[in-house]
Amino acid sequence: MNLWTLEKQGYDPGSVVDDGNRFLIANGYMGVRGTVDEADKGAFPAVNLAGVYDRNGDKWREPVNAPNGLFLRLTFNKEPMALPHRTPRSHRLSIDYRHGIFRRETDFGPVRIVSERMASLAQPHLLASRVQLAFREAGEAELATGISTDIWDINGPHLFDFRYEAGETLACTAVTGEKGIEVAVAQAVSRNLDGEESFCREEKGVLRTLRFHAEAGETVTLSLFAAVFTGLDGASPVDEAKALCQQAKAAGTDACFAENAAAWEAVWDRCEADIEGDDEGALALHASQYYLNSIAPRHRNDLSIPARGLSGQTYKGAIFWDSEIFLFPMFVHTQPEVARSLLRYRIESLPGAREKAAEYGYRGAFYAWESQEGGREGCTDFNVVDVFTHRPVRTYFRDKQIHISADVAYAMAQYYTITGDRSLLEAGGAEVILECARFYLGRMSRQLDREEADLLDVIGPDEYHERVSNNAFTNAMARYCLESALKLKEIFADELSYLAALTQKLGYEKDWALLPEAVRALRRPRIQNGVLEQFDGYFDLEDCTLDEVRSRLRDPREYWGGDHGVAGTTQIIKQADVIALMALLPEAFTDEQAAANYAYYEPRTEHGSSLSACMYALTACRIGRLDKAWELFLKTASIDMTGGGKQWAGEVYIGGTHPASNGGAWMIAALGFAGLRVRQGMIELHPRLPKQIDRLRFRLTVNGAVHEVTVTHSGYSIKVI
Ligand code: BGC
Repeated sequence: MNLWTLEKQGYDPGSVVDDGNRFLIANGYMGVRGTVDEADKGAFPAVNLAGVYDRNGDKWREPVNAPNGLFLRLTFNKEPMALPHRTPRSHRLSIDYRHGIFRRETDFGPVRIVSERMASLAQPHLLASRVQLAFREAGEAELATGISTDIWDINGPHLFDFRYEAGETLACTAVTGEKGIEVAVAQAVSRNLDGEESFCREEKGVLRTLRFHAEAGETVTLSLFAAVFTGLDGASPVDEAKALCQQAKAAGTDACFAENAAAWEAVWDRCEADIEGDDEGALALHASQYYLNSIAPRHRNDLSIPARGLSGQTYKGAIFWDSEIFLFPMFVHTQPEVARSLLRYRIESLPGAREKAAEYGYRGAFYAWESQEGGREGCTDFNVVDVFTHRPVRTYFRDKQIHISADVAYAMAQYYTITGDRSLLEAGGAEVILECARFYLGRMSRQLDREEADLLDVIGPDEYHERVSNNAFTNAMARYCLESALKLKEIFADELSYLAALTQKLGYEKDWALLPEAVRALRRPRIQNGVLEQFDGYFDLEDCTLDEVRSRLRDPREYWGGDHGVAGTTQIIKQADVIALMALLPEAFTDEQAAANYAYYEPRTEHGSSLSACMYALTACRIGRLDKAWELFLKTASIDMTGGGKQWAGEVYIGGTHPASNGGAWMIAALGFAGLRVRQGMIELHPRLPKQIDRLRFRLTVNGAVHEVTVTHSGYSIKVI
């Protein structure tokens, strides 16, 4: 079994959307969905751009998809050799996870098309594909290739004022509707055939058409080079795109592919993780690492990663807590520079978080639940559409999911705890922690005749129960945030002038004085038989099984949460909540508590979010439920290979890749199975290998040096590479 390649045989028109995610290639700058060369809008083709957003009218704001510069469509003897217009004799899609190469092989009978595509990891603006057309019959071929604007948009269109250029290098420029950001795509071709060439600028792009006679047994090869630049990259995107295309064409396809492969090898040198003993698990771990690494921002140092990566516009291309809690761990341990980028994005978006806090009447920083560029809140008041009435349902994620600020502060503090490197705190991280703590100081409330303070009217990670009070996760994470603010005094004990300056800048004198009392007073959860109550009154809700709640659905797409959802009045929860807390702050809980809470909450969890299984797996490792941990690991790591996860929330499409699960798979392997803890640059291991694994190996960067950890059932070793 090839442990780095996923392949799929057979043509199934019903799975083209899923395949677009599964066979995604990306390089942090853009993601190209795994659709065939000739795909039109119906197959959801997209070149999804990181960090470029647009709003059309009053529809949801979402990231922009660039025109598709790798478009290619063959007509032979006047018949389309194209999906879905002709049923193929055989069809095979594959992705090489090692170097991010998507391959399609389609036998249409008279001609067999094979193409391989990459989004260069070495050159973030460059896409390339090499194509072979093997003719079995003689006939007249018409090959159209160019830049197609027939691309997928959920809430588009986003591009206007198209301008096209024909010639040796094709070009297409357009501007976004909201901010007028220029988006430019150029395309060049190198080929081994002579034929009659003509150009056409059509409604759906600019195409070059090659007409030629093909002999039976002849194979025609050609390479396409496409470059994408936007107005955010420089002053003349179209010139840059054309120049890069020509440069790539001059260098040749092999050189471009080799450069991409070398860049991937450099990434694997830093973070490769391998399992021996179970091939399914080994492939799934490689897959999840590929999906996550392919969307890591490496071309900028202040970008984060959207919840569906670069697989499309789902979830508005927004950054959620997923980044800090699920993606950050893999990066901080293997490629701290990427972790810094995720956190610098939050530092840069502090003004947006301050504005949001002020909008709700608080001081400090209340981060956007669905954060777009500059920290702009992308979350709307109505996030779900009711499947019965087709009316938007008022959801409160934006207003009440206040744990987001604590999650950001947690990652900021963890960066220091793990690396021992104070520079990120000095570069704005400390300010973020202080401002998040300040937000909770204001958000807490206390009845005049009570000792304890509450966080009322919130939503915890389990989104099915909206507007609850004293959610155990939220309170504990908020407390950690307050403590992290106080801990800055220790961290900067040798440089108190730094904190003094910050205190003055923020007018923080009174806040410092309030922090210890806030830590003390913030309510801790009720505990019953060792089980933490998820929120005030949770134990009084109807205690029924998951199957019972599921049986109450009248439509499979029905939303389980909110006022009318089937889960709202029961103890059934969407995803890890108390268990997520235990995984994030393991030292705060005993093994007995972990076991009692796992036993209580796991059967009551729908795992309706892809963020859930990995948190349970980490706790399962801790309490020695290794078979369960392995099962949850496989589910987490293989999600984007199998196309698992929910596709709909009410009437809203939520499919795409699942970066949080990808990061979660690494967490289970390294933090769970190997029991890795890095503190101030010191590595500790507490292995708990499931029986399915003979040997686990992974790489880490600690104190600037790459280490390789190997864990077997008889021990472990750590060596510097
Ligand atoms: C989950 C959130 C998550 C979001 C994006 C939702 O379904 O409940 O916790 O942040 O998806 O992944």
